[in-house]
Amino acid sequence: MRSNPAEAAAVRAEELRRQIRAHNQAYYEQDAPTIPDAAWDALLRELQQIEAEHPELITPDSPTQTVGGAPSATFAPVEHAVPMMSLDNAFDLDELKGWAERLDRRLEGRSVDGYECELKYDGLAISVRYENGEMVQAATRGNGRVGEDVTANVATIATVPATLSGEPPAVVEARGEVFMPIATFDALNESLRERGEKTYANPRNTAAGSLRQKDSSVTASRGLAWWSYQLGEVVGAPEFTRHSETMAYLEALGLPVNSAENRTVGTLDDVIAFIEATLARRHDLPYEIDGAVIKVDSLALQRDLGFTSKAPRWAIAFKFPPEEKTTLLRDIHVSIGGKGKATPFAVLEPVFVGGSTVGMATLHNEDQVAAKDVRPGDTVIVRKAGDVIPEVLGPVLSERPEGLKPWVFPTHCSCGLNTPLTRAEGDAAHYCLNAVCPLQIDGRIEHFASRGAMDIEGLGERTVQIFTKAGIIADAADIYSIDFDRVGELEGFGEISVRNLRAAIEESKSRPLGNLLFGLNIRHLGSANAEVLAGAFGDLDALAAASLDDLAAVDGIGPIIAEAVHAWFQNETNRDIIEKLRAAGVNFTAPTVEVDENVEAVLEGKSIVVTGGLEAYSRDEAQAAINARGGKSPGSVSKKTFAVVVGADPGASKVTKAESLEVPMLDEAGFEHVLATGELPEGTT
Ligand code: IVH
Repeated sequence: MRSNPAEAAAVRAEELRRQIRAHNQAYYEQDAPTIPDAAWDALLRELQQIEAEHPELITPDSPTQTVGGAPSATFAPVEHAVPMMSLDNAFDLDELKGWAERLDRRLEGRSVDGYECELKYDGLAISVRYENGEMVQAATRGNGRVGEDVTANVATIATVPATLSGEPPAVVEARGEVFMPIATFDALNESLRERGEKTYANPRNTAAGSLRQKDSSVTASRGLAWWSYQLGEVVGAPEFTRHSETMAYLEALGLPVNSAENRTVGTLDDVIAFIEATLARRHDLPYEIDGAVIKVDSLALQRDLGFTSKAPRWAIAFKFPPEEKTTLLRDIHVSIGGKGKATPFAVLEPVFVGGSTVGMATLHNEDQVAAKDVRPGDTVIVRKAGDVIPEVLGPVLSERPEGLKPWVFPTHCSCGLNTPLTRAEGDAAHYCLNAVCPLQIDGRIEHFASRGAMDIEGLGERTVQIFTKAGIIADAADIYSIDFDRVGELEGFGEISVRNLRAAIEESKSRPLGNLLFGLNIRHLGSANAEVLAGAFGDLDALAAASLDDLAAVDGIGPIIAEAVHAWFQNETNRDIIEKLRAAGVNFTAPTVEVDENVEAVLEGKSIVVTGGLEAYSRDEAQAAINARGGKSPGSVSKKTFAVVVGADPGASKVTKAESLEVPMLDEAGFEHVLATGELPEGTT
């Protein structure tokens, strides 16, 4: 039997409603989304399109007409005095312009005289109610009419004041977004990963899950934050004429309004400029955003424009391109690093996400694969946010083919020497412990030549494999005695590439000691601590001769690293490598610090950690400025650290550690002050 187009549309609409409701339940009520946001948006749009073509199919309870999820049984219901609406979306500039044109048409001759541009925070909406200046209730959005009472939990959020300042009105409700800052999220996942537990997918779900705890001390421990962006019910406040005034009012009452980011602008061109600028710096922000929200600033025009059943006509959410997509997990392979570590990684059906095509993503270790329960053959959610390495968040269980078996960690290294992969008790990683494992040798050479180490352009994974296979090199030091005539005979190596490689290798000989040390593949020694050791010892021979105690006495170097470095230099094969490097003329010294007679040693005995980019100083210059004043600049934060200077894009673990150890944090101006006086600026906490 063949169905007619109207019937087919009805069937498809019902199917879409069923799917969207199921995803809504998982997203809003269980904080466990089953598909990426962008896929959900696509389902909703398809439904909207069908309903636009067949208005007779619209039902009052269609997800196109309703907001969010049903209130759960865990928290008491709260009826919102003013409904909490959702927003309509624009996915490109044409749709944004379409919205502005619709406004003009509705306003019949009058026109919009200003827009408020805000960030679209990726968290969860709450309404916080104050009566006579005291916080009395906080509620989630729920279905827009009835939300959940989360007062006890919201009261634990540091940026939600218990009491308002200024002259509070009889009633004021501030609507805003609860979110988890990225640094807090990263630190939480890092500690879960260390404990071998399942990590959280993204800050949004973690914030939602943290807010929905029965025990508010759990919420309190999660470091949530809040931006308010909309007025709810208000009684006894001054008359407002513009949305931007209401924001200034909330701010004057002591509520967190992101006035540094909000912009009141005149024209749609200004709005577009705001969107473009925001998109460009999306990943510089310390919290996640998934777009911009544009609101008509005039409250009189807002009143005239009104609402649809679901959203205000006077506002639109401009959604940024998705950073999560689904794709097929073709297989899981294991790579062997230079230190023998066996790391499973996902081999994906290539997918364009977050601005680049992703075909591989690390899965970290056996426990992470098990915790995520990803299996070859699964459709998985892949996330790529900015410069961050791509990540597999988890499987789409509804699309799992029947009979798919869990993945099992291989018992043996794939190096061909039949070496078992071992996992020590208490360690999350497997290792191949065969020192002559060809994969490890390749990994060591590759790491030696990589960026941050000797940085030899043209000597990547593939070239290293070709060279070791052809017997041209057998360890990292052999790089400096490569027979280039033989390289020239290899397929794919023309005259120009040989000449470039030769020059890159020659240039790498003068890299500073910190890079060389990092390149040597010493277990546990990352690039920051390699810098610290280079600074402390000045040259490789002094470091090689250092006792375990000498090493452990260096500020910022813990016993595990001290032991690993000491052991590395005791090993005869490693000493041979050092001698070959010396013979080749590789630099063994750290850059000397220019001693400026004019600066006083105001930082004598003090250590200052610098994280993130500064405007006036490169990393080396900041370090030199500290050293020149008698101070030290270790790579990690400890109880002994005098201060942490936090620049743009700081390391999350350093900031979190400084916070937990209560080490003062300074901005660049504070850093200048410390350099000039040796003292913390007044009021630093
Ligand atoms: S205003 C009546 N402003 O986006 C207007 N919402 O997709 C209510 N959101 O439910 C919303 N940042 O959870 C508004 N600056 C912002 C926002 C924002 C994030 C969220 C909010 C809303 C959802 C709609």
